Amino acid sequence: MEFEIRPYHNTDLSSIYRICLLTGFNGEDATPFLNDPDLVGHLFAAPYAIFEPSLCFVLTIHSKPCGYVLGTSDSIMFSDICEKKWFPELRKRYHLPNKEDDTLENNFLRYLHSKQTQFKWTEDYPAHLHIDILPLAQKKGYGSKLITVFIKQLNYLNVKGVHLVVGKKNQNAIGFYKKVGFQQLKELEESIVFGKKL
Ligand SMILES: CC(C)(COP(=O)(O)OP(=O)(O)OC[C@H]1O[C@@H](n2cnc3c(N)ncnc32)[C@H](O)[C@@H]1OP(=O)(O)O)[C@@H](O)C(=O)NCCC(=O)NCCS
Repeated sequence: MEFEIRPYHNTDLSSIYRICLLTGFNGEDATPFLNDPDLVGHLFAAPYAIFEPSLCFVLTIHSKPCGYVLGTSDSIMFSDICEKKWFPELRKRYHLPNKEDDTLENNFLRYLHSKQTQFKWTEDYPAHLHIDILPLAQKKGYGSKLITVFIKQLNYLNVKGVHLVVGKKNQNAIGFYKKVGFQQLKELEESIVFGKKL
């Protein structure tokens, strides 16, 4: 099979949404849990591709996207952009659910409606990333290669560190991040923050 890693192109956007959906439930398909299949991509993938395209790389198989790594070099700046140009429109479209209703979709909606707070690790680890690969391309070394390409770009931009947040239930991703050199920075209620100095 012919895999390739290349920079993001605008025509990849719908594939980015699709891959995000198919890996959006602790690394597995989120489709059964969402009324709107676009929601997860709106939150965790599309704004990066749109506002930071130079930090978005796509894994393809026979030229078709099957994975990506994307993120930002400056989490505070990125959060400001999303607060101004991305979340307001989505907040009109998706309403804040009842507090007690603890479904995946409602957790995403609560995330959308919460003002993104900046944590202390953004000082030493200003960048953050998301990586998602479809099952057909997993465990072949491409996750590690995507991280390398992303970090190379951060080095080029003189960024001093990168962090990410992973759900505690996603043990595969946790094992992967440790293997590719990320250190645990903080344990939160349902997730873990990992970081890597560059
Ligand atoms: C997590 C993910 C990005 C890993 O990518 P991958 O291509 O499967 O991983 P690789 O094949 O590049 O593995 C790189 C190294 O990590 C190790 N690794 C991968 N998965 C692992 C696991 N579950 N436990 C321990 N180590 C693991 C590999 O053994 C390999 O080590 P090696 O270099 O010594 O051989 C990918 O599986 C994925 O996208 N999963 C679904 C979406 C997801 O969970 N995204 C993360 C959301 S936070």
